[in-house]
Amino acid sequence: MFDIDKFIQECDSRIEKKNNHKAVIDILSKAVENPTDLFRYFGEPTQGGIQKIYQSDKFSILNVIWTPNMTIMPHNHNMWAAIGVYSGREDNIFWRKLDNREHGKIEAAGAKSLEKHDTVPLGSDIIHSVINPTNKFTCALHVYGGDFFETPKSEWDTETLEEAEYKVEHSHKIFREANKRAELDLK
Ligand SMILES: [Fe+2]
Repeated sequence: MFDIDKFIQECDSRIEKKNNHKAVIDILSKAVENPTDLFRYFGEPTQGGIQKIYQSDKFSILNVIWTPNMTIMPHNHNMWAAIGVYSGREDNIFWRKLDNREHGKIEAAGAKSLEKHDTVPLGSDIIHSVINPTNKFTCALHVYGGDFFETPKSEWDTETLEEAEYKVEHSHKIFREANKRAELDLK
């Protein structure tokens, strides 16, 4: 059985010793080795969304359920992150800034496709967009090296690639719209 309290404690003690994107990778890998345990704890997903599991100044844990065939715009986190996929697939596109202007545009710089059991550590300057290319939910456990909800971040417009302030409400709206589309597709 997945023990969330133990997982939080382990994250806490590891981040205490080493506060970087590799600090929790091994315990995250261990957690996503057993998707059945995670589904038993979180339940089988019925819709996409960002579920807050833990939030503090030091670190945050999210359970992210990507709706079938959804895309989230390029964004940064302004803190390190570690992603572990326990079901489905997520295609990450990594972006880099074209110049150092605060509202500078970005260009695609690389890609990484993650599937069940995969983990990836992301440095604090990473910009990525995420696509669920499958017709099923993709489930991932995310650990961030700070307060995900209170730290100012940026997002980039999918059409113009111009930078704007990241608003979690915008992400929630994208999930809601994707859920609506997925429901229509099922009918
Ligand atoms: Fe992200």
